[in-house]
Amino acid sequence: MTDLSTLSATDPFVGRTLDEKYCVEERLGEGGMGAVYRARHLSMDRPVAIKVLHQRLSEDEVARLRFQIEARAAVHLRHSNAVSVTDFGQTSEGCVYIVMELLEGRTLREILSREAPIETARAISMMLQASDAVAAAHEAGIIHRDLKPSNILVTQSADQPAVVKVLDFGIAKFAPDDDEEATTLAHTNSVIGTPRYMSPEQYNGNELTPAADVYSLGVILYEMLTGMVPFSGATPAEIAQKHANNPPHSPREIVAAIPEDVERIVLHALEKQPADRPANAAEFRRDLLETTERLGLEHHAFKSVPDIEALRDAGVESPSGRLVVDISRLREKRALSSGSNEIKVLGATPVEKTPPQAHKPPQASSFLDKVKRILGI
Ligand SMILES: Nc1ncnc2c1ncn2[C@@H]1O[C@H](COP(=O)(O)OP(=O)(O)OP(=O)(O)O)[C@@H](O)[C@H]1O
Ligand SMILES: [Mg+2]
Repeated sequence: MTDLSTLSATDPFVGRTLDEKYCVEERLGEGGMGAVYRARHLSMDRPVAIKVLHQRLSEDEVARLRFQIEARAAVHLRHSNAVSVTDFGQTSEGCVYIVMELLEGRTLREILSREAPIETARAISMMLQASDAVAAAHEAGIIHRDLKPSNILVTQSADQPAVVKVLDFGIAKFAPDDDEEATTLAHTNSVIGTPRYMSPEQYNGNELTPAADVYSLGVILYEMLTGMVPFSGATPAEIAQKHANNPPHSPREIVAAIPEDVERIVLHALEKQPADRPANAAEFRRDLLETTERLGLEHHAFKSVPDIEALRDAGVESPSGRLVVDISRLREKRALSSGSNEIKVLGATPVEKTPPQAHKPPQASSFLDKVKRILGI
């Protein structure tokens, strides 16, 4: 556990106001790319979280421009299961930063280290939420590239279902070379990720498709269900070699209670070739949701709102004219009707998704020119 008072006392940003807008109050933690702070938006008088990129990343012009492009894409990604990014900027000494909603809760990493393996319905419930956010990103042309339990935050308030938020969309490609968990493989400031959660193609520095994120989601689900990652090793090279060549152990051999259909979905996501996996997070999530519904597992991935006809069918009118609904009858009817391919999803999913932003990250070759053109500089 980090001693926050010590960190704050020595931290160059705590107590400062950035861009005359954000007063930095406390350091929350540090990752491979920078430090995260709790701050206050002064004019709105509202708490925010600010991630300030490491100085050495901020000094690299290409990295800084890429960061701005990606931050812009992240600002447009609006989804109830993705952390919302509201602003980005630069400190007086040139350190770039992004401003996000301040979240409360525990990272999935913390949950797993205490509670794994997690019971199937709970694991799926969290994964349905996380993959919905990733699906929205894919639709907007964003590949996360660094999905892992420490980038998933779970807020659990009393008597309420857990709410999952995925962090760090679009900034994973700025991971520095010397992060102990991350490894630069192609060229400086190029993507990486975290070896235990990285797809085989990511190790080769290949152009990635959304199926790379599907692989990482598969690793996370595997770990939630079994308490262990499919491949581990002493060095990134050893882990990479296993991701590329070894078949994963059957999750059901580790935890027998995992339903066969759920295991099939996990192993499908862990196929070595991107073309053999679900093409994107939406496809992966669809399979998971169908299986979950078929198995009758409780989940809180979306609010399925019954229409008025279903309510009438399941209800009786009281003498005062009020409709009294028999919830178990309503559930029965919905279970029967969900046998069709069409599952009516109302609420978060369709409403929260913004139209695709067609914001694909540019290629490295003529990168600087393209970025400058886009930014108009
Ligand atoms: N929006 C936020 N609200 C509250 N806490 C946050 C927020 N974003 C990040 N954090 C916390 O700040 C800490 C540091 O996050 P950071 O993303 O820098 O590190 P990481 O996820 O461990 O590593 P990486 O750099 O690989 O993403 C984490 O404990 C994370 O939970
Ligand atoms: Mg992170």
